[in-house]
Amino acid sequence: MTANQVKPIAAIVGAGRTKFGELWYDDPERLLFDAGLSCMESVDKGIHRNQLEACFFGSFLYQATNKMGLVPGHMSKELGLNVPITMTEAACASGGSAIYSACLALRSGQYDTVLVGGFEKMTDRSNKISDDLMFAADPSEFGAGFTFPGLYATMMSRYIYDYSEGKQECEDALAMVSSKNHHHAIKNDFAQFRREFTPEAVKKSSLVAYPIRLLHCSPVSDGAAALILTVPEKASMYTDTPIYIISSQLATHDVSIYTRESITSIKTTKLASTAAFKETGLSYKDIQIAEVHDCFTIEEAMFLEDSGYYKKGEAWKGIYESYEANKGLKHVPYVNGQNELIVNPGGGLKADGHPVGATGVRQVYEAWAQLRGQAGGQQVEEKLDTALCHNIGGTGAICTVHILRR
Ligand code: COA
Repeated sequence: MTANQVKPIAAIVGAGRTKFGELWYDDPERLLFDAGLSCMESVDKGIHRNQLEACFFGSFLYQATNKMGLVPGHMSKELGLNVPITMTEAACASGGSAIYSACLALRSGQYDTVLVGGFEKMTDRSNKISDDLMFAADPSEFGAGFTFPGLYATMMSRYIYDYSEGKQECEDALAMVSSKNHHHAIKNDFAQFRREFTPEAVKKSSLVAYPIRLLHCSPVSDGAAALILTVPEKASMYTDTPIYIISSQLATHDVSIYTRESITSIKTTKLASTAAFKETGLSYKDIQIAEVHDCFTIEEAMFLEDSGYYKKGEAWKGIYESYEANKGLKHVPYVNGQNELIVNPGGGLKADGHPVGATGVRQVYEAWAQLRGQAGGQQVEEKLDTALCHNIGGTGAICTVHILRR
C-alpha cells in the first residue's frame, strides 16, 4: 500500500495561524479570529463563512488565564455564525482532539465543511502559569511539588539511567534535539524563537529541574491556528491541491506517571501510532516528515521509539549519530538504515512555540504547508508526499496521531 492509495477521511482545503510568542495586546478570541481569517483567505477558490456548517475548537486554560467561558458564544459573535460550535479540553492535545472530533463528524456524514481551531493565551497569567498547567497532572503530583518540567525531568533521568547508564552522549543527544529544532525555526516567520543554540549552549542553559534545563523546554506562548476540513468529494469546490487526512486516531491512559508500567515511553503514542499505521496500511518507513510533540526534548526521543522508528532505548544513539552526520544541513534528518525522517521542520514546540491548545492544529497547519510546498523559508527541499502529526496532553494521558498525504 502507498499513501496515495489510501482512502481519505477528510480534505484540508485551508489552513492559517498567528505568530506564536508573547502577544500581550491580543485577546484569545481575537487570536482565534485572526487564525480563522488567515485560514479562510488561504482557500484557493474562496469560501464564504456561511459555507461553514460547524466549528470544533480546542483550548486548555482560557478559563484560568482570561476569566473567560462559553467560547462558542464569543466565537459565534466573532464569526457572525449561529452554527454548532463545540469546545474540546484535552490539555496540550486540545487541538489534536478538536481535529479528531471534526474528522468523526465528517466521517459520520453529519457535515460537509467545518472549521477547526486551537488557541491559548498563556502569558496573561505570568508567574501562575506553571501551576495552572498542573490541571493536566494528577493532583498528588501537584501536591508533591511537581511542575511539568519536574515530571519530564523524572522521565528523562530514568531514560538516561536505564538506556545509557549515564553516558555523556545520551545527554548530548537530548541537547541536540533542541539545537536541531531551533535550527529548523531560523526561517520560520511565525516562530517564537529564531536563534541558533549549540548543544553545548543547551547543556549550559539555566537549570530548571535536573536534568532539564531552560533550552530543553518548550516555552510559555500565546497563539492560535485554524483549518478548514471538508469531505473529500467536495474538496475540488475549494482547491485543486487539497491535502488529505488519511488517518485520525486518539488514545488515552492514566494521568499520573506513578501508576504506569514505564515512565520511559508513552503508551498512548504507541496505541495511536499503531492504530494509524493499521488504518492506512503504512509504516514509519512511508513517513517523510513528522510534527512531533517535543514539549521537552526527552518527549521527541520517546516518540522515535514509541512510533517504532528506533528500537526501545536506542533513539539517543540515532539522534546523536544523525546530528553529527548531518548538522549544518537546512533540515537535519533522523537516519535509520535507508530511512530518513525529518522531525519538526518548522522548529516544533521547542522553537516555534507551544500555546498549548493551539499546538495540535499548528502541527497540521505546518504539515499542510510542507506537503503543498508552501512552507516558506523552512520548506523541506525534497518532494514530500506523507506527514504524521503527533500531539499529546499532560505526560501522555492522551495522544492524537493524524497522517496526511498529498
Ligand atoms: N526556550 C528558549 N528560551 C526561553 C524559553 C524556552 N523554553 N523560556 C524562556 N526563554 C527565554 C526568554 O525569551 C528570555 O530571554 P531574554 O532574556 O533574551 O529575553 C529568557 O529565556 C528568560 O525568560 P523567562 O520568561 O524569565 O524564563 P522563565 O525562567 O520564567 O521560564 C521556563 C522558563 C523553561 C520555566 C518556561 O519556559 C516553562 O515553564 N516552560 C515549560 C512550559 C510547559 O510546561 N508547557 C507544558 C508542556 S507539557
